[in-house]
Amino acid sequence: MTATGIRVIGIVGSLRAKSYNGWLLRAATELAPPEMTIAAVGLAAIPLYDQDLEAQGDPAPVAALRAALRAADAVLIASPEYNYGVPGVLKNAIDWISRPPGNAPLHKKPVAIMGAGPGGSGTMRMQPQLRLTLQAIGACAMPKPEVAVASCRDKFDAEGRLTDEKTREHLQGFLIAFADWTRRF
Ligand SMILES: Cc1cc2nc3c(=O)[nH]c(=O)nc-3n(C[C@H](O)[C@H](O)[C@H](O)COP(=O)(O)O)c2cc1C
Repeated sequence: MTATGIRVIGIVGSLRAKSYNGWLLRAATELAPPEMTIAAVGLAAIPLYDQDLEAQGDPAPVAALRAALRAADAVLIASPEYNYGVPGVLKNAIDWISRPPGNAPLHKKPVAIMGAGPGGSGTMRMQPQLRLTLQAIGACAMPKPEVAVASCRDKFDAEGRLTDEKTREHLQGFLIAFADWTRRF
């Protein structure tokens, strides 16, 4: 953290071009408090985790992700729920950067989780699983408040703007809480 700002890396657990979670992260970049900047890092180029591949050295996209996470003050994850759980794309990336154990880039780093889904629970079956995985790698997930955008199809317009006023206010409060959480580290 610099004297002036909190640098956050944003990660989206969906590779879809019109991902609601990508749009949710974009909304967060717009609604973040002035001292917080959020830069998104994509996961599309991360290969499947393979311990033999890892033994040859980090593939370039993994090394880039690892460096970006190390340099960040905090990490904001926006992810859908797939089959009641964490999407493989996101879990795979976390498996890569979970290494080396005890010195992983997210070790003792503040993280916040949010998610959007078309159903009624808005990713609330995925989020506890993600918390458990973050615990395994020593990351410090903010316990509350939570952002779970249910019925997401009604809350964004066709251009991907978060138009639901209540959700915007909640997201803004969540980001202020995340800035406070990050300052504790
Ligand atoms: C493989 C797969 C599994 C899914 N499983 C769930 C699920 O368990 N719960 C849920 O609420 N939505 C589920 N969905 C629907 C997603 O929430 C929905 O497609 C959402 O828009 C994906 O997020 P995105 O818009 O960020 O890509 C699933 C979608 C896919 C493709």
